[in-house]
Amino acid sequence: MKLSHTNKARRISLIALSLLLVLALLQVQVVFAQTRNITVEVNKPGARIPKTLFGLFFEDINFGADGGLYPERVKNRSFEFPNPMMGWKPLDPRDTTGQLQIFDAGSIKDTPNSHYLRIKAPAGNKRFGIVNEGFRGIGVQQGTDYRFSVKARRIDGSPALRVEVVDGGRVIGETQVSGFTNLWKTYTAAVRTNSTSNKAQLNLILEGGGAVDVDLVSLYPKDTWQNRPNGLRTDLVKLLKELKPGFLRFPGGCIVEGRTLDQRYQWKTTIGDLDERRLIINRWNTEFNWRLTPDYFQSFGLGYYEYFLLSEDIGAEPLPILNCGMACQFNSSELAPLEDLDHYIQDAIDLIEFANAPVTTRWGRKRAEMGHPKPFNLKMIGIGNEQWGPQYVERYEVFAKVLKQKYPNIALVSSVGPAPDGERFDYLWQQMRALKADLVDEHYYSAPKWFRENAGRYDSYPRTGPKVFAGEYAAQSVGIASPDNRNNWECALSEAAFITGLERNSDVVQMSSYAPLFGHVDAWQWTPNLIWFDNLRSYGTPNYQVQKMFSTNQGTRQLRVLLDGSTKNGVNDLYTSASVDEQSGELILKVVNTGSSSSEVRITLTGATGGGKTGTALILQSSDLKAENSLDHPTKIASFVKQLRTAGGEFDYTFMPHSMTVLRIPSR
Ligand code: AHR
Repeated sequence: MKLSHTNKARRISLIALSLLLVLALLQVQVVFAQTRNITVEVNKPGARIPKTLFGLFFEDINFGADGGLYPERVKNRSFEFPNPMMGWKPLDPRDTTGQLQIFDAGSIKDTPNSHYLRIKAPAGNKRFGIVNEGFRGIGVQQGTDYRFSVKARRIDGSPALRVEVVDGGRVIGETQVSGFTNLWKTYTAAVRTNSTSNKAQLNLILEGGGAVDVDLVSLYPKDTWQNRPNGLRTDLVKLLKELKPGFLRFPGGCIVEGRTLDQRYQWKTTIGDLDERRLIINRWNTEFNWRLTPDYFQSFGLGYYEYFLLSEDIGAEPLPILNCGMACQFNSSELAPLEDLDHYIQDAIDLIEFANAPVTTRWGRKRAEMGHPKPFNLKMIGIGNEQWGPQYVERYEVFAKVLKQKYPNIALVSSVGPAPDGERFDYLWQQMRALKADLVDEHYYSAPKWFRENAGRYDSYPRTGPKVFAGEYAAQSVGIASPDNRNNWECALSEAAFITGLERNSDVVQMSSYAPLFGHVDAWQWTPNLIWFDNLRSYGTPNYQVQKMFSTNQGTRQLRVLLDGSTKNGVNDLYTSASVDEQSGELILKVVNTGSSSSEVRITLTGATGGGKTGTALILQSSDLKAENSLDHPTKIASFVKQLRTAGGEFDYTFMPHSMTVLRIPSR
């Protein structure tokens, strides 16, 4: 068939057009797949990276202490809750043969532990006793030893106490204590459990007729961190230690402030014999209507001494935060009169003595009596938590004046309120600058996007004046304090992007910590949290994995890093920071790719001489931004290692979509 000229011309132009289209598409692809450039100025080491850059924020929220890190299995063990029988119930409510009576010796003499229980039943009674429900159940492992103990005295007859650990009606561990006299004494017995249960209960049954008074009823694991009596929960401390934290901030958080001043945290009531520690309500008990926890109190089994020990155990600098005479400003906002701050300031002075003074002093002796003659070497304390307004400035000033004169080497952490910007924030920063504060504590609970967009936040901060402590932060997938917030990969990845900015500015940002640290899956008030646990198991969230990538690959000196020739961080989904580890001689390059496609990067190490041709790439990645870890899948998101071929001072590397990568390159 013969084509007409016009048809032929039409056909040619169609082909040409298609060719052009293909070329255009190819070009678009070429543009998208364009190789990016990262240059690390290896030959110009910058500021020292403080060892404290990545640390921990501990607060007794979400059953973080009692029911969590503090592994006592018996809730309300001393009958000191306002309802002294909370957590306890009769073994058989229909059994009227015996009696349960609560006594309060405090009505005669003010003692911290004034309540106790009398169990009374006639001879021949059929299993009269009480049950403790534990902290949303009692967790026990098969074939494991627990130490049962009770303070008791005989009132009548010669009864014994049978102790049973029961799971779903089955006794899975038991023991007995007996031989009570009419003087208070502590009785102990070992219980070995023959089955694992996350939700067991503890029975205490009177055997033989008579009456016995009981107090401080305890079921405590033998396996604690460092096998210490009254020690901490092993799996949780292990997770903390694996982060190699530079510091441990404790005990919070709003818990320091209390909803009212009489509910504030007072460190002196948290040390000494367990009997001497005065229980108070946990301020999170009633904070959120949608997550009420009426059984949340602070027994202070985990008190200031244990916090110091924990810091030492995990190699972290202790950072206690003290109440500065202000109750939580989201609640009562009560103030201690300015002219009466002495009591609060004396608490701070005594605390420094408790931590650092020789054993010949009052508080140094107390530390030694508790088992630690050596000082804890405290270097910093926080004055108030998340306070704001002129009331705070006035109080901070009084504290700072006294403390700086007496302890010029103790750094003081001060507040700039609960938000990362705004009028209160600006006002406090200005005041803290004028007062020449040491470290200013910034908090940001914001959307993941905020974290990605604020990676450059500290690039323009003044290089002189107070340093920054990014003391509480976490990306909120829904909104601040929403119970629907998730610890998902998008949040963790966005935090990773932001943290590159902290690392690049570690001459200004000297400390940082994710918050909160712990959440009990059955008893939380606040989400997201860094670590979740139940009565037996625990896991680190993707956010935990991100923290670990940074804290275990920190380096000792900053290196300037250019992204496509510019010092601006966070361009077209790539975020970077770099450092050198002067001990190992390794170069550490961190790259966060928040984009959904992989990114090909030409990496140039300027001035890198010699060095090996291989290194390692540590990668944290998921293509699912909603992905989370869980008790059943604790390491769904966890890092993996790949070998890296560096070919000297210049090489190409492809960063996976939605990933964080740490390249460690041997160098000179
Ligand atoms: O981390 C939870 C709370 O958030 C802290 O207690 C408080 O400081 C902040 O408002």
